[in-house]
Amino acid sequence: MIITFVGHGYVGLVTACVFADFGNKVWVVGHTKEKLERLKKGDPIIYEPGLKELLQKNLQAKRIHFTTEYKEAIGESEIVFIAVGTPPKTNGEADLTAIFEVAEKIGIHLTRPFTVVSCKSTVPVGTNKKVLDIINKTKKGKQKEIAVASCPEFLREGTALHDTLHPDRVVIGSNSKKAIETLLELHHTINGKRIITDLSSAELIKYTSNAMLATKISFANLISFYCEKTGADVETVLNAVGLDNRIGRAFLYPGVGYGGSCLPKDVKALTQTGVSLGIDVSFLNALEQINMHARRNIIEKITSHVKGKKIAIWGLSFKPNTDDIREAPSLYVIQELVKLGFSVSAYDPAAMANVKKILGSGVSFVENPYEAVENASALCILTEWNEFKQVDLSKVKKHMKHPLIIDGRNIYDPKKIQEEGFMYFGVGRSV
Ligand code: UGA
Repeated sequence: MIITFVGHGYVGLVTACVFADFGNKVWVVGHTKEKLERLKKGDPIIYEPGLKELLQKNLQAKRIHFTTEYKEAIGESEIVFIAVGTPPKTNGEADLTAIFEVAEKIGIHLTRPFTVVSCKSTVPVGTNKKVLDIINKTKKGKQKEIAVASCPEFLREGTALHDTLHPDRVVIGSNSKKAIETLLELHHTINGKRIITDLSSAELIKYTSNAMLATKISFANLISFYCEKTGADVETVLNAVGLDNRIGRAFLYPGVGYGGSCLPKDVKALTQTGVSLGIDVSFLNALEQINMHARRNIIEKITSHVKGKKIAIWGLSFKPNTDDIREAPSLYVIQELVKLGFSVSAYDPAAMANVKKILGSGVSFVENPYEAVENASALCILTEWNEFKQVDLSKVKKHMKHPLIIDGRNIYDPKKIQEEGFMYFGVGRSV
């Protein structure tokens, strides 16, 4: 098949590379020339394990092509995927400007008798109907048939290739039988349960999934607050609760709150959709409040227990195996610490360059975890990168002014860490 992706972020680029690897001819359309030049040279711009290799392989095989020109890509594509960003507006509503601009351009450049336009971006219910209206208005020639579908994406950063190749489900929402058949054909190399549905349901499936994940995380954080007040151990509690098959342990890990470019944004957008529909959204508001409280909780632990002014931070990305710092809890924590007069020495295996662009005075960035703890009065762990799990703790202790660890991701066993001579505060853990 010949297909186009408009947008080359995590969703667009990863999915484009995967479908190119299956032998399809794939166009990727973007509007920033400098970025497209890098992509053409095999630099994926974003850090995602395995993506660079897959991109380079498919560039060499001439199966993936990057362009700023809609004309050459749309003109020959059976399926056009929209995979551009839907960032939050100041009130939390999803900003659909890019989606509608792309829809207009697709309409203008359609030349095939039948094209499927499939939206992979996360968009509020009703958006794809508007996309169809825009394309119908802008397309030239009534004989050209188009169908719109919603094909939401469930990949996670850090495991994006694996998730795209082995999804739990492939959701295709459309009112057109022809569009569904075309998309099923494209996906035939990918396993996962097929959910064929209407546009609105597909759009809502994506928001419901992310809001459910945020619910589990916030619930885990809420229970961690109970544990901290009562001396119960959150890991034991949630392990036991998660063994109930109806509940499961996944995404029941408490910590410093959920971050990233999706969960925070999508909870906000679902809230705004609810408000516009006259639905009581207090449940969604509570998720966000708990999420903020999880971040503040770290600051409270630092101000209550740290005797000194220098804090080491390990982990800046919103989760491991990515350099993405969008809505990363680390940004909030560091900014608050600097405001409180602490000096911060930070280390992250991938995200330091991105944080350097945003945070300046009061923060120094160092090359390894040991350098970060040099003369520090506390070590605060904000991302559970593997390389922190088995560091040489005796070396860490030697470098620190006070051996105090505030573990925002519960990567250590409290008993063992205390035996090493550290004062230790995890999240919802008895000490
Ligand atoms: C999320 C969803 O998991 C994907 O299914 C979805 O496709 C994607 O959003 C999207 O909408 O594009 P992602 O943002 O990559 O994926 O990250 P997650 O793995 O969901 O983690 C989100 C945040 O929750 C991270 O900050 C992570 O540290 C935190 N988290 C996760 C917890 O605090 N506890 C947990 O138990 C799990």
